[in-house]
Amino acid sequence: MPDKRRTAAIIGGGVIGSGWATRFLLNGWDVRFFDPSADAERILHSVIERGREAIPALCDVVPEEGGLYIASSTVDAVEGALYIQESTPERIEVKQAVLKSTQESCDANAIIASSTSGFMPSELQEGALRPEQIIVSHPYNPVYLLPLVEVVASTAVPPEVTQRASDYLESVSMKPVVLGAEVPAHVGDRLLEALWREALWLIKDGVATTGQIDDIITHSFGLRWAQKGLFETYRVAGGQAGMKHFLEQFGPCLEWPWTKLMDVPDLDEALIDRIVEQSDEQAAGRTVMQLENERDRNMVALLKALRAEDAAAGAFLNEINRRQQAGE
Ligand SMILES: NC(=O)c1ccc[n+]([C@@H]2O[C@H](COP(=O)([O-])OP(=O)(O)OC[C@H]3O[C@@H](n4cnc5c(N)ncnc54)[C@H](O)[C@@H]3O)[C@@H](O)[C@H]2O)c1
Repeated sequence: MPDKRRTAAIIGGGVIGSGWATRFLLNGWDVRFFDPSADAERILHSVIERGREAIPALCDVVPEEGGLYIASSTVDAVEGALYIQESTPERIEVKQAVLKSTQESCDANAIIASSTSGFMPSELQEGALRPEQIIVSHPYNPVYLLPLVEVVASTAVPPEVTQRASDYLESVSMKPVVLGAEVPAHVGDRLLEALWREALWLIKDGVATTGQIDDIITHSFGLRWAQKGLFETYRVAGGQAGMKHFLEQFGPCLEWPWTKLMDVPDLDEALIDRIVEQSDEQAAGRTVMQLENERDRNMVALLKALRAEDAAAGAFLNEINRRQQAGE
């Protein structure tokens, strides 16, 4: 544990930025937060409250909270920050402008990480004052509950920077996975994109509704993925002979026309209307806030069950709890 509380700056405080602020704050960092929207502070406090409900259920010893400072500008926010997380809208010109004003006033050794879902670090670094200071730390929503973060660097970034970023992220109970190379949309969103594209086809072609697709996921491979992922699941599916047998048996099928993998359906008005109508029916009058509450309760229950089995994200949380109790 450091002697002095560390400071993170959160630039952009919508869904993701508020989640990051909550994650740092409830794990003992001081947070300097900036978002120009009039509604941002209200959203932030509602997400912090949500985090305060969920996080203690997963901790053996609840960490002491850091202090929150609402900044008046990016310049004000980055003062004294070791780690700066940018979560502004997914538009390259917005991000590059924010990164520019960040670099003009922040510490030259601070880490500047972007939450971008799609841009590569080398795109964010175009025209930057110090490209080697900018990386991607891509989280998953809700950021205060889901531990994974993809850490992505371009060749301009020295390994020391990704190592230090990973250390900071681990200190807020996150599991950093440092990717081997930068690619558009990193890893998780590329996988999800493939599933999303297929789902759009299935709805467009009248094969299944949004509710049926969600049932198919939540009652089958969604349960498998939460604890064994893709490759260990398939290893087991290969029977006692394991992965080699699985690949020999199922590999050739991929050449069959099972899917329309390379084609993207036109997201025209008719398809949008159909998805929205089915999704409204599926929600059955529940508000987004009610759905978020359900999601958080279910996620905490799943993570607790995985902790009891010392499996997957539960094993990670057990290790984090052990380290915190040992004061490491
Ligand atoms: N929503 C997700 O599930 C998700 C998941 C992972 C990563 N991301 C990424 O996170 C980023 C933010 O996404 P979001 O869903 O939170 O969007 P959002 O629209 O909810 O929030 C964006 C926030 O940025 C603020 N903003 C706009 N201009 C700003 C500026 N110049 N300085 C500071 N703040 C500014 C807005 O007021 C808004 O509150 C995007 O890059 C997105 O790709 C999103």
